Amino acid sequence: MNSITFFDKKARALLYTRGAIGAKVVAAYPAILSDLSDKKMDRMRTQVGIIGAGPAGLFLSHLLRGLNIDCVILEERSREYVESRVRAGVLERGTAETMAALGLDARMKREGMIDKALDMRFRGKTIHLDLPDLTGNTVTIYGQQEVVKDLIEARLKSNQPLLFEAEATAIEGLDSARPTIRYRSGGNEQVLEADFIAGCDGFHGISRAAVPADAITLYEQVYDFAWLGVLSHSPPIADMTYSNSDRGFALCSRRSPRVSRLYLQVSSDENPDAWPDARFWDELHARMFDADKTEIVEGEIFQRDIARLRAFIAAPMQYGRLFLAGDAVHITPPAGAKGLNLAVADVRVMARALADYYRIGSRERLERYSQDCLNRVWKTVRYSTMLTRLLHKFPSQTPFEREMQLTELEYIYGSRFAQASIAEQYVGLPFEGL
Ligand code: FAD
Ligand code: PHB
Repeated sequence: MNSITFFDKKARALLYTRGAIGAKVVAAYPAILSDLSDKKMDRMRTQVGIIGAGPAGLFLSHLLRGLNIDCVILEERSREYVESRVRAGVLERGTAETMAALGLDARMKREGMIDKALDMRFRGKTIHLDLPDLTGNTVTIYGQQEVVKDLIEARLKSNQPLLFEAEATAIEGLDSARPTIRYRSGGNEQVLEADFIAGCDGFHGISRAAVPADAITLYEQVYDFAWLGVLSHSPPIADMTYSNSDRGFALCSRRSPRVSRLYLQVSSDENPDAWPDARFWDELHARMFDADKTEIVEGEIFQRDIARLRAFIAAPMQYGRLFLAGDAVHITPPAGAKGLNLAVADVRVMARALADYYRIGSRERLERYSQDCLNRVWKTVRYSTMLTRLLHKFPSQTPFEREMQLTELEYIYGSRFAQASIAEQYVGLPFEGL
């Protein structure tokens, strides 16, 4: 079913309609929608057309609303699908503060967990990073799907346009003042016309591909291993812990005091079904140096997923009136837990630039958008790549390279300066120029 959830008066004024959306409308808005239900609607207009209701698109929509800039979000999947996609869990200080500034942190404050430590194990030793001691800051553990649920709920509650099962199929006129997004909704072809388009449609979306090949440079490193992630009904171990063992990388994270989020490095073509519970737990105990199985509590595994690892950056992040953000334009390997946080950093810069354009007619920040974002993007990808190199078993690793990796960990174990550098980046570098 296509859920279209509309409109406050202002947004309605920006939309002109000629099409059939009647039966697809969410029942909560019958009065508003009844006057649209029997007309043909194949064209809408807004200030910012956003493709994708992941963290990038949703945060952008809320930031723009705070600035009185109208936008419409098109999301190809259903609300249920988007809200149940299990992914990130670690929110940098700046991301949690952005939630708070938008007034969207009530549930996060109740259900999220403040995390004060990050551990790294190797050779049976533990590097314990005390985040408040090393940085004066902490991170928040709160699942990405919970963030997404909160942002969707707030947007729908304020009657702002967010169209589910509306797949963007083409972007046109990027060099003109009136770019358009063609999209398919409820079997109908429709058009969204906007001043600007925000490409927040993830790695496999259409936005990045809309930029002519000679106007964009792609930087990429694909790893030949993956992370098998599970959720389990079991109390997590004391601290967020990465482990580098001779058998490969492992990570013990959490979602709540009763739910653990656990990862194992596996080969890139691994089938999650090849990991029945007993095999998963045995391997996790072994990689976490918990040979006597007294530390990690086993529980019912109720979700399994595989994520291939890659580092990817496309530059510049803007072409004509298209501005790319989040996974649509960069991917960090998951070590360091940065992807969602980087998406939020991008759209903060984008919202600020759009505010200058609409308030004072200045294009300066819009023109600087890519440059302003890429500084943080490259530093963050550098950090995640460094952690990936430090913590994983590489199939092609020579004995010399393995010793170098372990010696690097020994150095960090004995150096407060090295620990502070890792901790500083983990809690998140300050936002610059905002
Ligand atoms: P997405 O979340 O991919 O959202 C894009 C949206 O666009 C999707 O809803 C998609 O359906 C929609 N879309 C795509 N194409 C179209 C189209 N044609 N028309 C309309 N809609 C479209 N990050 C962290 O910060 N911390 C972590 O702890 C962390 N852990 C992770 C663990 C794993 C296993 C994985 C895989 C990722 C992790 N990440 C983490 C990364 C994080 O999940 C992503 O970086 C984040 O989802 C990026 O958000 P986004 O909005 O840019 O993209
Ligand atoms: C998570 O909790 O999902 C998580 C934690 C740390 C990472 C990646 C993911 O580096």
